[in-house]
Amino acid sequence: MPLVTSKEMFKKAYEGGYAIGAFNVNNMEIIQGITEAAKEENAPLILQVSAGARKYAKHVYLMKLIEAAIEDTGLPICVHLDHGEDFEICKACIDGGFTSVMIDGSKHPFEENIRLTKQVVDYAHERGVVVEGELGRLAGIEDAINVSEKDAAFTDPDQVQEFVERTGVDSLAIAIGTSHGAYKFKGEPQLRFDILEEIQKRLPGFPIVLHGASSVIPEFVDTINKYGGQMPGAKGVPEEMLRKAASMAVCKINIDSDLRLAMTASIREYFALHPDHFDPRQYLKPARENIKKIVKHKLINVLGCAGKA
Ligand code: G3H
Ligand code: 13P
Ligand code: ZN
Repeated sequence: MPLVTSKEMFKKAYEGGYAIGAFNVNNMEIIQGITEAAKEENAPLILQVSAGARKYAKHVYLMKLIEAAIEDTGLPICVHLDHGEDFEICKACIDGGFTSVMIDGSKHPFEENIRLTKQVVDYAHERGVVVEGELGRLAGIEDAINVSEKDAAFTDPDQVQEFVERTGVDSLAIAIGTSHGAYKFKGEPQLRFDILEEIQKRLPGFPIVLHGASSVIPEFVDTINKYGGQMPGAKGVPEEMLRKAASMAVCKINIDSDLRLAMTASIREYFALHPDHFDPRQYLKPARENIKKIVKHKLINVLGCAGKA
């Protein structure tokens, strides 16, 4: 099974009322934890790489690790650039073998977002690569850019049809109240399902993407706090909200923070219990297992994509 695009995955997910998990990857243990979980659950998978991940691990290392995961699992895997901020990084990822890229023009005015997104779509489609665009702004931290909560804007359903038609994007990320990171809501979690419903009406059959969709698993936060961490007030998107979104037009759900928390909780606990150990394999092995466990849970109970590969 070679690398695939998300085209077929989204078509089946839309029709089946489930979503594909798009998990951020930064190193070998994260890739192995995710792909072993997907293999055991026979789930389709998107592995996504941010600009920060490319800088940390280098494009070629991540690409080769993902190729190894495909060889090892035989799964259909799509490799996707997360939050590409300009044409150049999208081009580098397309030329470097990615099957999907996101051009995140959401910080630009509408017309500039369209121009930039279309430029990427034209380059990508000629090479068989699919493109995700974004309309509306999430609160929280996106890569190096800190979008303060007051600047976050829900996606305007009146703009989506024109954006999709004029750019030719294959999927659209929207803002309905989620945000990146581990502190998503000050009070009760609230998502604007009314906006999602309206967007679905304007774009029937079109795949929608939800960013900032970690649940910030309380068990991990408790473990981190128990062993010397300080994450008071960390809060994520309740799983039932994600399941509801997946049953609607949302075909791709982005998860990074929960993987970070899984790994960090495990490593903190490990060192608290074994303060004399110093072999990285000893603490990275349970960290990788913790990632595998949480990804399995998400594939089965949250995304509904287990058994759909
Ligand atoms: O949306 C951002 C992702 O969580 C990636 O984070 O830019 O720190 O790699 P990063
Ligand atoms: P989380 O921070 O909620 O995991 O969101 C990740 C994301 O949207 C990556 O693009
Ligand atoms: Zn994101």
